[in-house]
Amino acid sequence: ARSVILDMDPGIDDAAAIAVALNNPGLDVKLITTVAGNVSVDKTTVNALKLVNFFNKNVPVARGAAAPLKKRFEDAGAIHGESGLPGYDFPEPKSQISKLTAIDAIAHALTQSEKQLTLIATGAYTNIAQFILQYPELLSKIDELILMGGSISGGNATSVAEFNVFTDPDAAKIVFESGLNITMIGLDVTLKALISKQTSDRLAEFGEAGRMLHGIINAYGDVHEGGKPMHDVITVLYALHPEVIKLQKEHIDAVTDGPAIGATVADVLHRWYEKNDYNAEVGVDIDAAFFNDWFLKQVSRMSNR
Ligand code: BDR
Ligand code: CA
Repeated sequence: ARSVILDMDPGIDDAAAIAVALNNPGLDVKLITTVAGNVSVDKTTVNALKLVNFFNKNVPVARGAAAPLKKRFEDAGAIHGESGLPGYDFPEPKSQISKLTAIDAIAHALTQSEKQLTLIATGAYTNIAQFILQYPELLSKIDELILMGGSISGGNATSVAEFNVFTDPDAAKIVFESGLNITMIGLDVTLKALISKQTSDRLAEFGEAGRMLHGIINAYGDVHEGGKPMHDVITVLYALHPEVIKLQKEHIDAVTDGPAIGATVADVLHRWYEKNDYNAEVGVDIDAAFFNDWFLKQVSRMSNR
C-alpha cells in the first residue's frame, strides 16, 4: 500500500476523500492533519475525528493552523454548511486529538517511516508551508505532494483564483517554490469529473457509509450543471491510479496580492521560464464516467464496522 498523510479542511469533499482513503487497501493513511479553510480549524478537526471514528480506524488526527500566514481568513460555510459536515448525524467522536501540532505530527510521521511518504493536501497549504520552513531536512522523505487546488483556466473563489490557494496564497507560493515533487489537481481536472445526480442518488444503496456520503453530498452547495465537483476525492483517485489523469508539466507562480490574488499562473508559452524549468505537474483531463463508476465502487466496498 502507498503510505500517505492527509492534510485537509473537512469539508464535504474532504470528508468523501477521507472515506475513500481510509477504506481502500491501496492506501495506508498514517496521519490526518487539519487546517482552517472550509470552516474553522476547530470544526475541521472535529469533522476529521468524526470520520475516523465512523470508520473505526486508528489514525491520529492533529490540529493545524487556525488562520492563513498573512491573509485574513474567510471560510466557505456557505457551501459546506456551518459545521462543515452537514447532512448526517455523526456520533460524537471517542478518540482524542493528537497532542502534537500538525507540523510536528507530520515531522514525526516522516521520521518514523523507513520509506518515503506521500502528502495529500486538500485544504489551504498553511500547514504544508510552515512544515517546509521548519523542517527542510525532512523534505526528502516526501516522494510526492499531491495538491487539490489552483487552476490554470479560471477560478471558483474569484474569477481567477481557486479556493484553497485563495485562502492562503502566501502558503501556496512557499509550496510551489519548495522544490517538492508536486502534482496539482486543480479545477482544470476536478470540474471535468462531476459526480452526477444519478451517481449520488445511488449512494444510499450502500449501507451506513453510503447513507452517510449520500447525506453529506446532498447537503453540499457546490452545484454545477451536470453534478457536483468532488474536488478532493480526485487527489485520492490520483494517488491510487495516476494513469487516469492527464498531466502537463508547468511552472506555476502563486499570486499573493492585487486583484489576481490566489491565482496560479502557468507559464504555458514559456515566455518567462525555460520549458524544462517546471515546478509542478498539472492535471488537465479525466474521464468523468470512469470517475463516477470508480467512486460508486469505492463506496460499495466501504464498511463502518
Ligand atoms: C476546494 O475548496 C474547498 O472548498 C474544497 O474542499 C476543495 O478542497 C475546491 O476549490
Ligand atoms: Ca478541501
